[in-house]
Order: sequence, then C-alpha cells, then structure tokens
Amino acid sequence: MSGLRVSYHRSIFCRLTSYKFTAATNNLQLGKFQNTSCMTDTNIKFTGISGSLRKGSFNTMLLKAAQDLLPQAVSMTIASIAELPLYNSDLDLPIANERPESVRIFRELLHDADAILISSPEYNYSIPGGLKNAIDWASRGSDSPLLNKPVAIVGATPGLLGTVRMQLAFLPVFQFLNMQPVYKPEVLISQANTKFDEDGTLIDKKAEELLVQKLEALKEMVLIKK
Ligand SMILES: Cc1cc2nc3c(=O)[nH]c(=O)nc-3n(C[C@H](O)[C@H](O)[C@H](O)COP(=O)(O)O)c2cc1C
Repeated sequence: MSGLRVSYHRSIFCRLTSYKFTAATNNLQLGKFQNTSCMTDTNIKFTGISGSLRKGSFNTMLLKAAQDLLPQAVSMTIASIAELPLYNSDLDLPIANERPESVRIFRELLHDADAILISSPEYNYSIPGGLKNAIDWASRGSDSPLLNKPVAIVGATPGLLGTVRMQLAFLPVFQFLNMQPVYKPEVLISQANTKFDEDGTLIDKKAEELLVQKLEALKEMVLIKK
C-alpha cells in the first residue's frame, strides 16, 4: 500500500512546501520547516567510495562518471579506502587515544558529506573485504559519520548480475547504522567490459540514465532529511 509522505523541501525554493506521494512507505512523515537552517540547494556534498583498489577498476570509472553527472548544486569528493589498516579495536577509541590518521581522514570526509555514494564490485557474492573494513572503521562510536546518513550503492561487474548480491548484502549494514538508503533505481552494470571505453568513459546510455536518476534520488533524500 502506498503511503503519504509530506515533506518540506528546503531547496532554493525553500519557502515552497511540496507534497510527495511515495510507494516506499506507509508512514505519514512530517518534516519540520526551520527557516534558520534552510538548505539553499547550492551546497550539497556527496562523498564517493570505490570498493575496488585496482587501477583499471570499472567501479572507480563508474564513480568518476557519477562525478561528471552530478545534479545541480551537488559536489562530490572521493574518499580512498586504500590506506586504511585492518580494523582492530585496540587501534580505535576508546582503547586508543586517537584513531590512525588514515581513519581520521576517512571519517572526516564522511562527516563532511550530506550523503554517501558507494560504487563497488561484488566479491564472492558479497561486499569486498576492503570496503567492509572501511565501513567498520567508520561505523564505531556515537560520532560515527554513517549514522542516519543518506546512502546509495551502484556497482559494475563484467558478470551478468550487476553486483546485485553485493548490494543486497549491504542492507543489514544500513539497517544497523540507521542509514537512509536510496533503493531505486537500481544501478547494476553488468558486462561492464562493454560499457566503458578505453579511456574509462561510461558509453552506455541506459546505464548513464540510471546513474543520473540515482544521483537525483540521493540529492532528493538529502533535501527531505534536512
Ligand atoms: C575475490 C573476487 C571475487 C569475485 N567475486 C565475484 C562475484 O561474486 N560476482 C561477480 O559478479 N564478480 C565477481 N568477481 C569479479 C569482479 O566482478 C571483477 O573482477 C570486477 O572487475 C571487479 O571490479 P573492479 O573492476 O571495480 O575492480 C570477483 C573478483 C574477485 C577478485
């Protein structure tokens, strides 16, 4: 059953109130309108994470394609997970006095973001270990930059199922962290070896269209939440 979501969008038209129907919820949600923190629609920040470390990564190409297709008034910084140590709570607060520097930088980039975009391969039907490790580092403490944050996942694989199992494996992680996933449209880039050119440019129009819609949906989630 469709629910009614009434939201106050604080965009450049932040004095306008918009009413939106969505099939995603049965709840009536009333957003609060506070002029003092009115979002101007000119300062929305995404942080992007690639789940692959390799040089010729299709997922890093996809993240870069997203950077070129961002909605108006959105910017995106890419946060690398390459330098993060393996998670060890002896290196984390409160046992350690401070977190490793690479972790602090990573967490700051996530703190700065209104939303997170993850582009990742599927490894063994699940989340790649390096990416899961990064999420674990960012997840701890009441100051976790992941708590309640809007997030979207996209993925590319030379295989046929477009990383769907990796994307599903993320759902309990989002649930634990009370994150706000943007489910639709699903961006599942299968046969990725045919969808980027030699320079790493996304050349598949359907994939590009879906990516644009996903980015718009993530922006929308930020505006609804704020
Ligand atoms: C350890 C490992 C496990 C993999 N498991 C899967 C898998 O479960 N499903 C899949 O579609 N591809 C799998 N692949 C193939 C990856 O999709 C492929 O290597 C892809 O190019 C990796 O993404 P990247 O190009 O961004 O590095 C696996 C690759 C590796 C190295």
